[in-house]
Amino acid sequence: MRTIAVINQKGGACKTTSAVNIAALLGELGERVLVLDLDEQTKATAWFGVGDRNDKGLLQVFTDGRPLLDLVHETTWSGVDFVPGSRWLMRLAKELDDEPAREFILRDALAALPQDRWSFVLLDCPPSVGIATISALTAGDEFLITLETGYLQLDGVGDLMQTISKVRDRLNPELSLAGVLVCRATKAGRADTIVTRDTLKSVRKHFGDRVFSTPIYEATRMKECPGHHLPINQYAPKSVATSNYRTVARELLARGAA
Ligand SMILES: Nc1ncnc2c1ncn2[C@@H]1O[C@H](COP(=O)(O)OP(=O)(O)OP(=O)(O)O)[C@@H](O)[C@H]1O
Ligand SMILES: [Mg+2]
Repeated sequence: MRTIAVINQKGGACKTTSAVNIAALLGELGERVLVLDLDEQTKATAWFGVGDRNDKGLLQVFTDGRPLLDLVHETTWSGVDFVPGSRWLMRLAKELDDEPAREFILRDALAALPQDRWSFVLLDCPPSVGIATISALTAGDEFLITLETGYLQLDGVGDLMQTISKVRDRLNPELSLAGVLVCRATKAGRADTIVTRDTLKSVRKHFGDRVFSTPIYEATRMKECPGHHLPINQYAPKSVATSNYRTVARELLARGAA
């Protein structure tokens, strides 16, 4: 079971879109994948259309030792199961305020799952480096950074890497980078726009071959599919974003972690 935290502390960096669709494309390739919605905004939960965001659910995993397995929903997406988020997660920091070793609770909850049922666990993190994200980085074997194309997008990633470094030193020395994914790339005619080219160039300069070979291109269909509770490969099999996420899923399988 490879556990991957999908992170970027910036809002709207395509974490949820990537966690959901990488899961679906891994499922299409025959993998068994569990997705957890760790964000109190519960956008992944709305996308899957399962569970009730008003249930305490995941909060109770952190605060009351509720088994994670209780919360697993099977979905109609090939190979993909899902743990819904809860708006109660907004209370997480407060509830765990005086809890010793609180960063390890999620790791232990994941370790108590049947280990042969899923080959991947994807953790959709909120846009902050609060306790939910730190818990995901402590529980993860790997982390995957998503970012949008744009000139200021890499600044935040520098801060993120400092957090990763502290997590490795203090909580999870084995944590490795699964990859960096540039999203919402744009073309003008057949060529990438200047901003897309520049973003890819500077991300590759920093992260070298850990950057996925393809970015995810902007696709109108991507904005539509959450409303239909479908991943992009089911909603728009011929969309460029479907083939981009398929490439990413294949590379994740081929690479393992660094
Ligand atoms: N390839 C794409 N083409 C078009 N729109 C996209 C694409 N990828 C993501 N988006 C849109 O970008 C927006 C942000 O994406 P998403 O919600 O995945 O980001 P996020 O990092 O999870 O945000 P948050 O920090 O709020 O959780 C959404 O409106 C989503 O539909
Ligand atoms: Mg999100």
